[in-house]
Amino acid sequence: MEYSVKKIVEEGEKILKKKGVLNSRSEASLIVQKTLNVSKIDILTNNIRSVSFLKRMSINKNFCERVRGKPISKIFGIKEFYSYEFFTNSNVLDPRPESETLVDVAKKILRKTKSTINILELGVGSGCIIISIIQELSELRIKGTGIDISESSLKVAKKNKKKFNILNLHLLRSNWFSNLKNKYDMIVSNPPYLKTSDIEFLDDEVKKYDPLVSLDGGKNGLNAYNEIAANVKKHLKLGGVICLEIGFGQRNYVNRIFEKEGFELILEEKDLQDIPRVVVYKLK
Ligand SMILES: C[S@@+](CC[C@H](N)C(=O)[O-])C[C@H]1O[C@@H](n2cnc3c(N)ncnc32)[C@H](O)[C@@H]1O
Repeated sequence: MEYSVKKIVEEGEKILKKKGVLNSRSEASLIVQKTLNVSKIDILTNNIRSVSFLKRMSINKNFCERVRGKPISKIFGIKEFYSYEFFTNSNVLDPRPESETLVDVAKKILRKTKSTINILELGVGSGCIIISIIQELSELRIKGTGIDISESSLKVAKKNKKKFNILNLHLLRSNWFSNLKNKYDMIVSNPPYLKTSDIEFLDDEVKKYDPLVSLDGGKNGLNAYNEIAANVKKHLKLGGVICLEIGFGQRNYVNRIFEKEGFELILEEKDLQDIPRVVVYKLK
């Protein structure tokens, strides 16, 4: 027996809606799209007239996983970020739309440069930030370095490096600066910044499928900023900058931490929700 795509999406929408999944229509459509490996247009125009029994079973299995709380990105192992598709899994933080602000800021600053630029990303995760920067600024000569404390997230970053065929990106394990000797023109980071006590209140989608090490910023959420601020000086070239993503309401705290270490705020950027999201410092 064969099934029409339109009907499958409608049924999926009902199942997801009943279980409280927001945007049930678009999520159902996306699940069908990804399982069948077809485009959104194919679904919208009802271009795929029929789906085999086996494919239908796979789609149902994916609807069930979604209903059990697994995000679509983690079902299919892929997440879009800055219009690129990155590999992801439960060993890395899913790339977040608000982190695209960090890429925008890096582009804004680096566009003015000409010579070879050395960029370091601290806590590289899937690699989505540094890889997007390198992709977006392909006219520049960028030498990238990405570090992470988590070996399993470095595996995902390496897979993404290969996917985008990035040659000039060195990925290594390090506890912040512990294994680094070089100096950089730009350091970027989206460190873990949630308060430990807030983690139990996160949605299951985050709590169960994003690793704790990518979320937990310690008692006041600021552990990583303190650690980075205390050690970053010797890793910045003359005139070098550090660009950081920050959490909701952390702007003044992070400013104080960096000012105490002799840095000045030279730029800040809000995300699409109008929340201060990225701060940039250089040494006074
Ligand atoms: C919020 S996630 C950001 C991941 C990725 N850059 C992104 O924006 O999607 C923070 C990352 O920092 C890493 N991390 C946590 N503590 C670390 C440490 N002490 N040294 C290096 N990396 C660390 C985590 O493993 C995680 O990949």
